[in-house]
Amino acid sequence: MTTVYINGDFKPLSEASVNVLDRGFTFGDGVYEVIPVFNRKIFRFDEHIQRLENSLKALYMDNPLTKDQWLNIFNQLVDASEALDQSIYLQITRGVTERDHDISLADSPTVFSMSRPIVKKDLSSGIKVITHEDIRWQYCDIKAITLLPSVILRHKAKEQGAKEAILIRDGYITEGAASNVFIIKGDTVFTPPKNRHVLSGITRDLLIEILSTNNINCLETPVEPEQLFDADEIWITSSTWEIVPVIDLDNKPVGQGFTGPMWEKANHFYQEFKKQYNN
Ligand code: PDD
Repeated sequence: MTTVYINGDFKPLSEASVNVLDRGFTFGDGVYEVIPVFNRKIFRFDEHIQRLENSLKALYMDNPLTKDQWLNIFNQLVDASEALDQSIYLQITRGVTERDHDISLADSPTVFSMSRPIVKKDLSSGIKVITHEDIRWQYCDIKAITLLPSVILRHKAKEQGAKEAILIRDGYITEGAASNVFIIKGDTVFTPPKNRHVLSGITRDLLIEILSTNNINCLETPVEPEQLFDADEIWITSSTWEIVPVIDLDNKPVGQGFTGPMWEKANHFYQEFKKQYNN
């Protein structure tokens, strides 16, 4: 049985429900976070809460809970599951109002959180991706629940036997439909800088830190599609996928067409970093 948190209560998932006039349902008016739990320890809690604050602020919303209250809820959800590695989902919507665009009608947000086991698929031998025009809105730095473009992009990738779509906007790579993108040329790693069209990925930021600690040159710089197609290696990152090598881009091999040596190194350092969460 999965226990979830909804508006102050812990309940079995099957008993949790929300009002159909919830603005999350009628307008997609809310924000979310996905926070990984490794070896039953919450990973990068502070960073995820900071990003949540930023998303809320951008939507003119206050954080309904303190950091300690969030931690307490997450710990209870993690404790309620036996899985070692979990993925905490949290969602805050603007709450229940008449269906009216006016946000001043809303005075009580809906707060929902659950933790599910991370079902690890072994992606270490590399995945296939497609490229696609970035069809999302202009505020991709907000982790908004309104994810229809990403859902469609993932579906388009799936239709072509691929797992992710790497997005191109105004002649530059932005990110994946639900991941950040890194490319490697020689011994240098490149990733698009954070801006309105790139989510501030927690895995992305941590990987940059880890690469720097291990003296691997990583540049946050605009990346053009030509560089993507000419890359020796491509990686995508997210909290639940971690660092995944891309071996096929639009049906063409990336580099030699198999997982590259820089990925082996970066992934090794990342897994080493995670070990501090083993105690
Ligand atoms: N998505 N970019 C986008 C558009 C994303 O949706 C995500 C994560 C990332 C990676 O961010 P992080 O490293 O903090 O997970 C980048 C989550 C996992 C999701 O929507 O399920």
